[in-house]
Amino acid sequence: MIRNRPAALRHAAALATLLALAAGCARQAPAVAPPVAASPALIPLPVSLTPESGQFVVTATTRIHARAGAADGVARQFADLLARTTAFDLPVDSGDPATAGIHFILAAPRKDTSPEAYVLHVGEDGVRIEAGDAHGLFNGAMSLWQLMAGPRADAVALPAMRIEDAPRFAWRGVMLDSARHFWSVDQVKALLDVMATHKLNTFHWHLTDDQGWRIEIKRYPRLTEIGGCRVPQGEAGRRADGTPDLYCGHYTQAQIRDVVAYAAARHITVVPEIDVPGHAQAAVAAYPEHGVVDGPTQPSHDWGVNPYLFNPREETLQFLEGVLAEVIDLFPGPYVHLGGDEAVKYQWQASPAVQAHLRALGLKDEEALQSYMLKRLESFLEEHGRRLVGWDEIIEGGLPPQATVMSWRGIDGGIVAASQGHDVVMTPGDTLYLDFLQTDLPDEPPGRPKFTPMQKIYAFDPVPAALPAGQRHHILGVQANMWTEHTRTWERLQHNLFPRLAALAEIAWTPARHKDYDGFLERLPAQLQRYRALGIAYGQTALSVAMQRHDDRAGNRVQVELANPLGYADIRYTTDGSAPTARSPAYTAPLTLQVPTDLKAATFVDGRPLADSASRWTLDAASLLTRTDKTLAQCPQGGRLLLRLEDDTPVDGPRETFDVTLFNPCWLWEDAQVQDIASVQVRAGRIPYNFGLLREEEAKRGFRPAVAAHGEFEVRDGCDGPLLASVPLPAAPDADGFITLHAPLRVPAGGRADLCMTFSGDTRPAMWVLKQVVLRP
Ligand code: ACM
Repeated sequence: MIRNRPAALRHAAALATLLALAAGCARQAPAVAPPVAASPALIPLPVSLTPESGQFVVTATTRIHARAGAADGVARQFADLLARTTAFDLPVDSGDPATAGIHFILAAPRKDTSPEAYVLHVGEDGVRIEAGDAHGLFNGAMSLWQLMAGPRADAVALPAMRIEDAPRFAWRGVMLDSARHFWSVDQVKALLDVMATHKLNTFHWHLTDDQGWRIEIKRYPRLTEIGGCRVPQGEAGRRADGTPDLYCGHYTQAQIRDVVAYAAARHITVVPEIDVPGHAQAAVAAYPEHGVVDGPTQPSHDWGVNPYLFNPREETLQFLEGVLAEVIDLFPGPYVHLGGDEAVKYQWQASPAVQAHLRALGLKDEEALQSYMLKRLESFLEEHGRRLVGWDEIIEGGLPPQATVMSWRGIDGGIVAASQGHDVVMTPGDTLYLDFLQTDLPDEPPGRPKFTPMQKIYAFDPVPAALPAGQRHHILGVQANMWTEHTRTWERLQHNLFPRLAALAEIAWTPARHKDYDGFLERLPAQLQRYRALGIAYGQTALSVAMQRHDDRAGNRVQVELANPLGYADIRYTTDGSAPTARSPAYTAPLTLQVPTDLKAATFVDGRPLADSASRWTLDAASLLTRTDKTLAQCPQGGRLLLRLEDDTPVDGPRETFDVTLFNPCWLWEDAQVQDIASVQVRAGRIPYNFGLLREEEAKRGFRPAVAAHGEFEVRDGCDGPLLASVPLPAAPDADGFITLHAPLRVPAGGRADLCMTFSGDTRPAMWVLKQVVLRP
């Protein structure tokens, strides 16, 4: 598995050997409990790591030393983190640098290094972390914490080594969308805690959107009173008595100050986002006079692209400056994000007043009008010592002079902006959006099943090869974005963020020449242990086993291929119902299994299972006749914008998920063996259809026309092929939210068919979604 190891990784491997020895030596120390080998498996990998001879054993009697000031502050943070996540509750004193122990030393800053740089030395007499700045000391503390946060033990042997380290990029960001779903202050702080241990230093906080305004603005209280609550579409939006069950949430200014201070203590800068001029429906609901259309609206319950825009007139710019004045007061960091994304201009185009204003300003078009607004707000920010960041659409009407661009529609926006001399943060959607699922496993939570696996994140280089060398310094860094339309719970948020943020941390921090995915996989188990120490419920799917099956119904057999989604090679399986162990048969080639078989499999690293539980499949005769929304394909024609959506019921308790495309929804069972099949039994649910689409997109969305009053469930042989089955749909699902239909099947000549299944008719604001299909002989 190990190929072309860079020097630092060879050192890491050498260290692993040393560690084994170190653990052995230290075991002979009489008064000390058996030490656990600390792993040098740092993530992100440092610039250089040089093993030295000897070791230092940390025990309950070890002291942490720091002189007063910043070093003392970092030392105490380190001691607190250790106390919270390990068996060590070590005192901090201002002891003399000559004594043994763990020393935090603020040295004279070096002009040629980043304030985030540090040196960590482990010798026989203790540990010294030195840096010219508190941020560097903190980074060193995070590395030392990583070395110590192994399985809980009373002593840890640290092998002697010297780490010299500094970041590749200054902007190492994570964006959290608190607008679509709201995250409590404690949850945000928990995220900041873990970001810090990854040396991620920028928290982009998406605080306003169509579906909710989440930041208290004292001079405009209705922004949160009205804009902070929406009525969710579907059953989840109604109480038993039929009254609306509002989804509300906002941060008070005191809470924001608390979060900003918490982040600052961890050397994380918070970048607030106030989205202008689009994604403004919640604000316009609160202050309709600052929108464009007459009449009231509400915060949206539709995901996607909504048409509400801020008005470009002077009064609204002053209103937005009023908002920004409070934002600037709350967020001391240098950047304020003003959005600029996905602002469809329909309302401006339709408004005579906006059109007159555009002409009076002598502007060419609506893009120029958006640019005019952003330039004006940029001047306001600059006057207050802040810099504007915006999504890459801000390039279109002409960039505000000092703007930093976040490239999300791929990397091209970033290349254009950097070529024009603007700073750039790379956050391409198809690589760094964490609402995209991380595996193709059926138990991934709701999101966009356009996969962003760990490998794809790890392979991303934020500096495009196409960018001339002279412009590369404009790439400030890289960021992963966690949009939360489909992420409703903290458990799922953690699943989506971790462990993928480990790959982000490495591409953001580690020199490109050290990049090595296999080495990363070797270090990842130690990172998972750190997540456990921090109480983080990281995602299990990528650690489990994925299965591809090829059914042979005539032979009552299934051919099965197994793989770990991250690429770990050691997969063990059983077929007797027992849990796989490191001594179970190793998977080396596709298995041909006679049904019924109870197949279990797990990924192993160093003899230990990687995931918390084994993957399991019941391969029986019924399974040969059954497919679900997760195991069916979509029609090649028109089946676009695949989403994994969640049911709206039950209001409390676990809900089903459905894979469905928004354009011409269909589910396809390719090459089904149907020679002896009499009917198709389908189980379907009904969920809200709540998506805003661009007009030209909406026009491409379609259904087959309904014939019966409520439409029908239809099966064709191929998506444009002959009808094989059709059964009318009821007006509404059963009490459990589902229906079960039986559709007699006309078997085509040859006994095989590409079963293409659809629901006819446009049933918005709800849609039927297939859950399971069973072929009935
Ligand atoms: C975005 O994803 N609309 C920036």
